[in-house]
Amino acid sequence: MNTAQTSALLIRGGTVVNADRSFRADVLCQDGQIVAVGEGLQAPAGATVVDAGGQYVMPGGIDPHTHMQLPFMGTVTRDDFFSGTAAALAGGTTSIIDFVIPDPQQPLLDAYKTWRGWAEKSCADYGFHVAITWWGDSVHADMGTLVREEGVNSFKHFMAYKNAIMCDDETLVNSFRRALELGAMPTVHAENGELVFLLQQEMKNQGITGPEGHPLSRPPAVEAEAAQRAIAIADVLNVPIYVVHVSCAESAEAIARARAKGQRVYGEVLAGHLVVDDSVYRHPSYEVAAAHVMSPPFREKSHQQALWRGLQAGHLHTTATDHCTFCAEQKAIGKADFSKIPNGTGGVEERLAVLWDEGVNSGRLTPSEFVAVTSANAAKLFNLYPRKGCVAAGADADLVVWDPSATKTLSVKTQHSLGDYNIFEGKTVTGVPSHTISQGRLVYVQGDLRVERGSGRYLKRPPFGPTFDALGRKAALAKPTAVTR
Ligand code: URP
Ligand code: ZN
Ligand code: ZN
Repeated sequence: MNTAQTSALLIRGGTVVNADRSFRADVLCQDGQIVAVGEGLQAPAGATVVDAGGQYVMPGGIDPHTHMQLPFMGTVTRDDFFSGTAAALAGGTTSIIDFVIPDPQQPLLDAYKTWRGWAEKSCADYGFHVAITWWGDSVHADMGTLVREEGVNSFKHFMAYKNAIMCDDETLVNSFRRALELGAMPTVHAENGELVFLLQQEMKNQGITGPEGHPLSRPPAVEAEAAQRAIAIADVLNVPIYVVHVSCAESAEAIARARAKGQRVYGEVLAGHLVVDDSVYRHPSYEVAAAHVMSPPFREKSHQQALWRGLQAGHLHTTATDHCTFCAEQKAIGKADFSKIPNGTGGVEERLAVLWDEGVNSGRLTPSEFVAVTSANAAKLFNLYPRKGCVAAGADADLVVWDPSATKTLSVKTQHSLGDYNIFEGKTVTGVPSHTISQGRLVYVQGDLRVERGSGRYLKRPPFGPTFDALGRKAALAKPTAVTR
């Protein structure tokens, strides 16, 4: 952990973009915090000055869904917490929220301590959602300890991955109820794991063993069923719910319907799902097709329009990557059986540029809406706001200086992630970070990455309060700071 005081940093002449407005202002940072935002600020003696003329100064991205150093499907992701957060900083993302995933029957606190240890090498700030993979009295108790003492305010439920980390309805109900009592946000990976398991067997019985079987065994209806079930359970229990990696129109519509009835349902979209379609699974090369195996799978193109519309309409709130990198030799585990291909793709470095290029340059999103869906809304939903997700005095000096006219061609050859594939390979984007600032320090300057292992800090996230009664009748109090689009 770097505790050295940083010299002052003045970002001069840019346009500050927050989720609510944009305005011309200088930004002065000192000792890891923003101390002033305004016109004509003077640089203190010894300050570093960044010329942001013609550029935007925005909150650093928050990726609320990553898996660094994850043991999964018999192997471990290539990016650990250092390489993964370094890649994030290179792309303008200054905080991640990763996942502690206990094995079934493993005490939650044991798994949490293990992940905290692994994450000490991070060079960007990080927090954790904790997955509920089984149920018992100790899980109930540990959820309380995690919320009250460890700064965890969100719990993840995998409705897929049967015979591994899948949660049944009994666990969902118990955990959602407990989250409600604690003022924590339940989140779900929405896919019906029983149906996925059945369809995988059917594909293989038909002789489909290659990666093309992956999307066939996980069609949109399988995702939509789980999303609707989770939303219905949350509705009965009167608890808010956050659906991770919404990939299809049917799930986005389920969220929109529930929200139209007044239910607090929030949705996350992955940069990959917004721009990559399912043709990748029909690629003649096993390596290329397997490199795209992640769940839910990339979808037929029309779903991308639905996801963009969800972000534009405000039914979907955050963007993430599910950064989870496996290399070709790891993906080869499933050469004879697609259901054994380790699920996961990268993107933590590319998310902001893809969202800017496809979102802002196309006119789908304003710069302020871009900030909402890349940092501010995640900060609000997971109770990091306004420390994160906002350019204002008192906030952490986690910033990205964004050059809207610079271009870059995204490629595995230039990425900082240790993954050996880039799902955005060859895409030329206009709008990239020129500088990334983390804790008031310049960590990325025009292609030069200056990260320090272990400098990232664990982010404690307080619960939403006050807490609720046993029947959830005070759930109205669970409303996070209003999210914006
Ligand atoms: O394929 C994926 N998404 N891998 C990571 C685990 C998960 O489902 O989020
Ligand atoms: Zn998932
Ligand atoms: Zn994930």
